[in-house]
Amino acid sequence: MSRNTHNYEPVAGEEEWKQDDSSLEKSHIHTTKSRWLSWPALACLLIVSNTLTLAGGYYCWNLPRTPRSSDNAPPNAPSFEPLQDTWETFWWNTPYNSMENTTETDMLWDSILPSHGIIALDREQAGKQNLPDSMYLPSDHTKGVYLLESYHYLHCLKILRTTLTEAVEGKPFTHHPGAHSNHCFGALLQYITCNADTTPLYTFGKFTAGDGQVHQCRSWSQLRDYATENTACFRDTVEGIPLGEHFGYCDDGDDGVMDFMDYV
Ligand SMILES: *[C@@H]1O[C@H](CO)[C@@H](O)[C@H](O)[C@H]1NC(C)=O
Repeated sequence: MSRNTHNYEPVAGEEEWKQDDSSLEKSHIHTTKSRWLSWPALACLLIVSNTLTLAGGYYCWNLPRTPRSSDNAPPNAPSFEPLQDTWETFWWNTPYNSMENTTETDMLWDSILPSHGIIALDREQAGKQNLPDSMYLPSDHTKGVYLLESYHYLHCLKILRTTLTEAVEGKPFTHHPGAHSNHCFGALLQYITCNADTTPLYTFGKFTAGDGQVHQCRSWSQLRDYATENTACFRDTVEGIPLGEHFGYCDDGDDGVMDFMDYV
């Protein structure tokens, strides 16, 4: 089958239930009016993604992988202490996609600090762990500056959300359109395919799946604390200030990311 063409064939004997799908429902299942993603929004997202650019390339380094024990790692695979497993409940509706009060939802996103994940590591130690060389910490040249991958994705998600919202509302763009935010689609796609997840999500149609199901995760609080312990004291800004002026501003150890248990 060609990559671009998908042909669907009806399966024999599957016609009957199409007449009456009430048998597929369970009354206790909570359903909402949420939709996967409307076509106008998707079209908008694609248009936006193809026209966005953000100045500066310092988020585009070759980033280390999330640690995972592996017997067949290539010789250049970086080595890390793995994060602890946690078990978390995912919800279809979270405070991060609430439409009840969009001012409050925007505030939640605004308080997420991707810059918390910018760390400084001893260059010698980083080399032993097979990390590629990276830019100097301006205040200490024995250290290299790295961006923890998960925080890189938070950065991407925030840019995409802001840009989509502004495009839908016809507002001027906060992040100058172009290749930088377009990069986020490739980054997130690679993250998703790299972290293949076999959790079977229950569904009864109605545009929801997996509401309230438990997932295996890795400890975000452990990652957050690791970032705090190794912080490069980097601040994010929207304006184009010189790279060096981002450094020298430490956060308070919080990245603004809500714990799963606080979603409900
Ligand atoms: C939405 O939330 C903001 C911030 O908490 C609040 O000031 C505002 O009154 C709320 N709006 C409505 C319509 O409830």
